[in-house]
Amino acid sequence: MKNWKRYTVTAALPYANGPKHIGHLAGAYLPADTYVRYLRAQKRDVVFVCGSDEHGTAITIQAIQENTTPRAIIDKYHALTKNSFEKLGISFDIYHRTSEPLHHETAQEFFLDFYNKGLFKEVTSEQYFDEEKKVFLADRYIVGTCPNCAYENAFGDQCEKCGKELSPNELINPRSTLSGNKPVLRETKHWYLPLNEYEPWLKRWLIRDHAKDWKQNVYGQSKSWIDAGLQPRAMTRDGEWGVKVPLKDAEGKVLYVWFDAPIGYISATKQWAKENNTSWELYWKDSDTRLVHFVGKDNIVFHCIIFPVMLHMHGDYIVPDNVPANEFLNLEGDKMSTSRKWSVEMHEYLEEFPDKVDELRYVLTSIAPETKDSEFTWKDYQTRVNSELVAIFGNLVNRVLVLTDKYFEGKVPQANECSELKTFITQQRDKISDSIEHYKFRDALSELMNIARHGNKLLTEKEPWKTFKTNPEDTGITLYDCLQIIANLAILSEPFLPFTSKKLYAMLNLKAEDYQWSDGGRQDLLKPGHQLGKAALLYQKLEDEVIQKQIDKLHAGKPTNGNKKEKANKKMEANVKSEITYDDFSKIDLRVGTILTAEKVEKADKLLKLTIDLGYEVRTVVSGIAEFFKPEDIIGTQVSVVANLAPRKLRGIESKGMILMSEDEAGKLHFVSPKDLTNNGSIIR
Ligand code: 2FM
Ligand code: ZN
Repeated sequence: MKNWKRYTVTAALPYANGPKHIGHLAGAYLPADTYVRYLRAQKRDVVFVCGSDEHGTAITIQAIQENTTPRAIIDKYHALTKNSFEKLGISFDIYHRTSEPLHHETAQEFFLDFYNKGLFKEVTSEQYFDEEKKVFLADRYIVGTCPNCAYENAFGDQCEKCGKELSPNELINPRSTLSGNKPVLRETKHWYLPLNEYEPWLKRWLIRDHAKDWKQNVYGQSKSWIDAGLQPRAMTRDGEWGVKVPLKDAEGKVLYVWFDAPIGYISATKQWAKENNTSWELYWKDSDTRLVHFVGKDNIVFHCIIFPVMLHMHGDYIVPDNVPANEFLNLEGDKMSTSRKWSVEMHEYLEEFPDKVDELRYVLTSIAPETKDSEFTWKDYQTRVNSELVAIFGNLVNRVLVLTDKYFEGKVPQANECSELKTFITQQRDKISDSIEHYKFRDALSELMNIARHGNKLLTEKEPWKTFKTNPEDTGITLYDCLQIIANLAILSEPFLPFTSKKLYAMLNLKAEDYQWSDGGRQDLLKPGHQLGKAALLYQKLEDEVIQKQIDKLHAGKPTNGNKKEKANKKMEANVKSEITYDDFSKIDLRVGTILTAEKVEKADKLLKLTIDLGYEVRTVVSGIAEFFKPEDIIGTQVSVVANLAPRKLRGIESKGMILMSEDEAGKLHFVSPKDLTNNGSIIR
């Protein structure tokens, strides 16, 4: 294992065009903060940078649509998001902005470096232009009739109806979504990053060298991009909003937002170094610095392929050692989305629960989408807070402090160190470290809770309130041990639950700055006779009404719910089928199976070819689900299969059986799967 001298930790720069929700928090910012707090507790040299991503077409278009300016939008959301992060305890060393001049200079320097070395490809092509709004239109902002299925509102990059990937010039009757007018084609020149030329380097650096230490989801996604072959990608755009292309013949052109945004990590570090009188270059150019990017899964390609290639092309820079990207956090059975009002925005949570930050941090880390998408529900939040934080952690602390107050006037009783306890907590500390070092924050938190569980077990077994009458010394020993456990919790909980940790230090009358991670395990953190501080409740039980209010609020906020629901209900009604007998039903052989492989069927946008393990045999099934699932995402999923359906040929492939899907009100398909993992071949009845 390499001995890193210092760490540069980045968290994806959020677009400053709207509020951020708890899915963003769970995906990148919370794990990054936990990691950084852990490093700081170990006294390692670390800089943690983030800031607002303030450029890009989305912000330009939003300003046009809202009849305002990009500046007004970014100022508003920069302040909102920065403030929310602060309140949530996300401890950035700097929260910078890509609209700052220092950032523009840094991004332009990168562009010129590549330009002067002749690394860009200059390409002139025709692109759609909205003459009324005077902007070139990104593919998403052009709609028209799909050449494949005749759907009239297909987007310029994809038809949402049939799923076909499109380019804008394939659309019949294209229209600008901004003005509704027919866009015109105009010639325009752009500078392309020849990603294809860096494939050999990517194959060595990423595919060969990071096969083992990167998360499977990240490695797999990056590898499949590289395996599919990379194309040159335009690094400039037409427009006024952004970092100007620093060339004479580039009037009206700006850098592509994904070119400048990751450079934002560097400019943020420069600003931080300036303010702290240190060298930014050590954090970006010294091979003993470990660079780690925390992002959500939609950012993987930019952080694992494009930005590393840029750093490599520049030549002086280090490349990321890891990109522990998370999958998505869903909300109450649906994808989280601010625009569809199906989300819990960070600032809204803080307004509703200003004193419950660690509760949110705890729950989001417990359910973090580390290996696959996971789900936040308000009921689960309530259960985890009440039966874990309140019942295990808070209860231990409260009982021990109250008992010490009662029997020993709030002073640490006389006792010797317990070596067994020391061994146990030291082992726990090391397990937590190991999990964090491997970006497994869920496991780390669960090991932390095991320390609190151990404390409760001691109390239950030793019953110090009973022994006090007969053998007060034993009471003292038990409370001494439990107090050492709590002092250890103050140290080891800090990366996850910083507000709790702070309260614990105050209750124990200790100074946080006197302790570091390596003190975890010690049994002499509190000396006999030490006067403890005042006990206070760490967490409060969440009542049903409080949770119901949040659920109701969520459902009330969904904008088109009523209308959509009515339509969906009508569709469901229209599909009601006539009665069948039990005998009819029992003719169907329904089984549980697991998807072993999945691949697209050539020239059939809707179909996936699956092999399914039915326990007693492996089948090929062709299923019309390609619009909704990527093949790599569904491997390993357990599904329900109609096993005795007569075989039929689809696109020349014999399909034996059918998998059951449910269709939601938006027409999206979902697997009908057993709730718990079941043996393949199990009969469904
Ligand atoms: O997806 C996003 O929100 C982007 N603004 C993330 C940018 S990360 C980095 F490159 F700056
Ligand atoms: Zn179509």
